[in-house]
Amino acid sequence: MSVEAPLPVKPSPAPQPAAAEAPVRTEIESLYDKYVVPTVNRGLTLVRGRGRQVWDDQGRKYLDLGGGIAVNSLGHAHPAIRETLTKQADVLIHSCNLYYNEWQGRLAQRIVELTGPGKVYFCNSGAEANEALIKLARKFGHESGRFEIITATNSFHGRTLATLTATGQEKIKQGFSPLLPGFVHVPFNHLAAVEAAITPKTIAVQIEGIQGEGGVFTATPEYLPGLRALTQKHNLLLLWDGVQDGYFRTGRWQCYERILQEVPGGESFQPDAIAMAKSLGAGYPMGAMWVREPYQNVLGPGSHGTTYGGSPMACAVALTVLDVVEKEKLMANISARGEQLKQGLQKLVTAGRIKEVRGYGGLVGMVIEKEEPGSVVSRLTKAGLILIPAANHTIRFLPPLNVTAEEIAEALRIVEETI
Ligand SMILES: Cc1ncc(COP(=O)(O)O)c(C=O)c1O
Repeated sequence: MSVEAPLPVKPSPAPQPAAAEAPVRTEIESLYDKYVVPTVNRGLTLVRGRGRQVWDDQGRKYLDLGGGIAVNSLGHAHPAIRETLTKQADVLIHSCNLYYNEWQGRLAQRIVELTGPGKVYFCNSGAEANEALIKLARKFGHESGRFEIITATNSFHGRTLATLTATGQEKIKQGFSPLLPGFVHVPFNHLAAVEAAITPKTIAVQIEGIQGEGGVFTATPEYLPGLRALTQKHNLLLLWDGVQDGYFRTGRWQCYERILQEVPGGESFQPDAIAMAKSLGAGYPMGAMWVREPYQNVLGPGSHGTTYGGSPMACAVALTVLDVVEKEKLMANISARGEQLKQGLQKLVTAGRIKEVRGYGGLVGMVIEKEEPGSVVSRLTKAGLILIPAANHTIRFLPPLNVTAEEIAEALRIVEETI
């Protein structure tokens, strides 16, 4: 009888972490990998939207309070916008700026009525609107040899060469030197720093009222009249970048009206020129510069231009947006919804779950220091809420102006459960 030697007992292998597999790319993602210049890290693939909701290519539904970075002022597929787009497509889409078009004239009139006596130049984006501010300043200072523009650190004015030079964030400029000469950055909300930076070559000061990309930092009510007095004293233009914070987003037409709402005499504050874009076309790309009297003709024939700016289609859509904002009382709505949101978030601050809440109306930032904004935004997205990251540990709510109380409550619920 043979006795079989017992088989040596092999220790079972320790569980190994699964080899990191490359995530499977969808067909659309593969098209981007192969054909689209990779300037941005993208997330979802969105296929359709209705109101404040969007759906991705897997059929999942999200509450969209990012508004395409403050653009979708009326949400998705608003019936009035759909109607204007289809009707106008049947009449005149584009004509170019060699000709008059009724819609551009009427929109310019509405913007002047809302802002103050002056004129409007139309373009296609926020960067272009800021570029127009910069060209206005250069032209205004040309004869006296003044060209320097003072802007704020932590600001954001766009990605063209002039506007990224104006931007007060190093990461935006890296790799693009030599930059445009003539820009100086000083700390935001620091009047003495502006005064110290003024030289015989200075022609303008350019600021955002609320630094959106920078993390929702608001100009103080003292800073704005101080800046106005200083620029007047030195015969400088005060250039206002209202691309993100303007257009009713704070519950007023321009955010300086909201910031100075309780300040005696605050209603007399007015910059010399304002850059507008984003919410203006509710998703139809357009930009504009309003410039006040007596500077409204500084940019004369041949000095600036664009093929598409102020097209019949863009202006017809923007006129409809203004009508809807008025008819649906969206200024009051976004003020109230902003308060509701801030009160809800403030409870999380009190509970020590988020650090701070900043902003007004439809431009609110929550500060989370323990985790990168991008990763918090990804977790919120998985939970069904779309928000937008910003600098300085901030996550932005940029909801459409017609967001409802129920949707804000739902967003607060998701934030509370996720963070
Ligand atoms: C304040 C501000 N200015 C300018 C821009 C640039 O606008 P656009 O991306 O339309 O060129 C942005 C964009 O986020 C912005 O927030």
